[in-house]
Order: sequence, then structure tokens, then C-alpha cells
Amino acid sequence: MVIGFFDRLSRPLMRALDPEDAHALAIKALRYVPVPRPPADPGELAVRAFGLNFPNPVGLAAGFDKNAQVPDALLRLGFGFVEVGTVTPLPQAGNPRPRLFRLESDEGVINRLGFNCEGAAVALRRLAARGNESGIIGVNIGANRDSADRAGDYARLVESFAPVACYFTVNVSSPNTPGLRDLQQATALDDLLARVLDAREQARPRSGPVPVLLKIAPDLALNDLDDAVGIARKHRVDGMIVGNTTIARPGSLRERNKASETGGLSGRPLFKLATRMLAETFVRAEGAFLLIGVGGVDSGPTAIAKIKAGASLVQLYTGLVFRGLGVVSEIKTDLLAALKRGHRNSLASMVGSDAADITAESWPG
Ligand SMILES: Cc1cc2nc3c(=O)[nH]c(=O)nc-3n(C[C@H](O)[C@H](O)[C@H](O)COP(=O)(O)O)c2cc1C
Repeated sequence: MVIGFFDRLSRPLMRALDPEDAHALAIKALRYVPVPRPPADPGELAVRAFGLNFPNPVGLAAGFDKNAQVPDALLRLGFGFVEVGTVTPLPQAGNPRPRLFRLESDEGVINRLGFNCEGAAVALRRLAARGNESGIIGVNIGANRDSADRAGDYARLVESFAPVACYFTVNVSSPNTPGLRDLQQATALDDLLARVLDAREQARPRSGPVPVLLKIAPDLALNDLDDAVGIARKHRVDGMIVGNTTIARPGSLRERNKASETGGLSGRPLFKLATRMLAETFVRAEGAFLLIGVGGVDSGPTAIAKIKAGASLVQLYTGLVFRGLGVVSEIKTDLLAALKRGHRNSLASMVGSDAADITAESWPG
């Protein structure tokens, strides 16, 4: 009710604003407008993954609450988990504005924010102040643009955030920090994961074994994906997130002017590529770890397609911009209906059921 009212009131206003101003206003509203606690999710939607119990499989993707300002308000909107960040060790301004573009008729967004971040100390203080508040909050970590030791940045963040993070996402896939995506290449990734997992071991006596997930770009060549999955398996990471925004521009984009902006494309135009990469990752992981599917989820059917392609959990960001807050409960309702239709009592049996078929299709253009 409150969410529907909020949506109807705010969406026309938000769409009229500059996208970055609209985002700042949304964060402010979540800080000051009280959101009541939603009813508990039905048990059939519960997912056990990475050693954690998720009340439902619909998460908020990284980038919305970069500085951990409103994670609890976001959980109260009905998300099963919220990923804050990307957090970098030191504060940095990111790229000059404008750096965020809505492709209205494509229901896509291009961003080249470049890890604008208040820095680790601020986010850490906010998360520590939550105390024992329940709810799954993941912390997405990245390196400072000018860092001399990028792998060291990730390792330090793991050590400092381990007491407050339910899981970590090692983000090596944002296209807006020059050279960051090179950390996905075999030798660099091997070294990075070794240092991150070593840092987790150092923190283990204080924090327990915090799950570590690797977030990859949907633009990886398949032989690089072979390497990335192989290295992730070797290091026994807990999961992968597939994936980040794409630097590709599908020929179907209608907003040709905005499509030429530099940055990562998200939302509906990303769905096919990201879902294909998810299925490719699922067949390579062979059950060694579970996956989060992200990229173009904006409805029940798109969430179900991600699950069938191999996702145990899904995340969304851009779908929220175009579909409003109601999309979260709409997806949950559709998931419950799909379970009922299939006479299933959990989503786990649907995971990856279409992966082999999807990988046999021609490559999405
Ligand atoms: C404005 C914006 C900022 C983002 N910032 C981050 C980020 O800081 N770290 C990250 O890992 N992903 C970031 N992402 C990527 C999203 O987490 C997600 O992987 C991507 O947008 C695809 O999902 P979607 O189609 O549901 O938006 C950002 C996306 C958008 C649109």
C-alpha cells in the first residue's frame, strides 16, 4: 500500500529530473520517509545459498546504495538482500557529470559514474551502527582508481568489513575504472583471489567465514570465462554474480544518441547477453558454487528466466527505475505462482533447467 502510493506519487517526478538528482532524492526519501516492515515472505521463497538463509531470492544490485546509507529501508521494501557499494578504500569523486543517462524507450541506463564513493571508513561506520539488525547485507568492494596496489585494496577491505558484511562481492567488472576489468584475466585474478581469501582467513577468528562472491562482466570472451570459472573453483569462492553492465551496444537500441555515451549499459537491453553469460557460467561451474543472475530483471518472467538459466538468486537495479518499487512484490507473486503451477515447494529444482538449451542457441546480437 505505502509502496504503491509512494510509486504513483514519485515516479513522474523522478522521471522529470536529471537521473543523478533523482537518485539522490530517492536515497533521501528512504532516509526520512518511514517504510513499515513488510509481512514475512512465504517459506517457499526461501533460498539457502553461500551458507546464508535468504527470505526470498530478489536482491538489490550494487550501485544503488553505494555508501550504505539506507540498507535497512531497502530491505523493508521487500528485497531478500541488499548489496551496498561498490566501496573503495579512499573517498573519490568519480567521473565528471553528466555520467548517468536514461534510455527511456529502451528501458535501459548507461552509467560512467566511476566508483564515486565516500570511502570505506564512512560506509563501515554506518554498517557498524546497525548493530544486530537482521537482514542480509552484502558489501561490494573495489579498488581506488589511482591505487598502486589494486589487489591490496580488495584485501584490506575484506579485513576491515568482515565483521559487518554478510557476504563480499569482489567487483572486477565495472567498465568505468580504467584497467579494472583486466583483473578478470587469469594471472591477475589468481593473485587477487588468493589475497582476498587470505584476508578472509585473517579475519575469520573475529568474523567467521564470510562468503566471497566474484562479479564478472557479461562481455568476457568464453575462453576468459573458462579461466575465470576455473580459478574461482580452484580458490573455492562461494559464488559468482553474472554480471555487471555491458560496454556492448545491441543493434536494437532505439535511443541512438544516448547509446553512443561511454559507459556500462544496464536494464532491458542487457537481459539477453547477461542471461546467456549466466547459463555459460552455470554449465562451467558444474554445481561447485551457486550463482546470482543480474542484468535486465524487471518482472516475474525475467526473474524466472534467470533462475532457469542458472541463478539461485537474482538482483536488479535498472528495473526499479522503469517499473517502480512494486516490481519486487510483483516478482515474488509470480515466483510463487510458478512454484504452484509446477507443484514444487522450492525454487532450487528450477535452477539451471534451461541452461543447456540456452548455451546451444545462436549468440545474442
Ligand atoms: C547507476 C548504476 C550504478 C552502478 N554501480 C555499480 C557499482 O558500484 N558496483 C557494481 O558492482 N555494479 C554497479 N552497477 C551494476 C549493477 O549492480 C548491475 O550489475 C547492472 O546494472 C545490471 O543489472 P540491471 O540491469 O538490473 O541494472 C551499477 C549500475 C547502475 C545502473
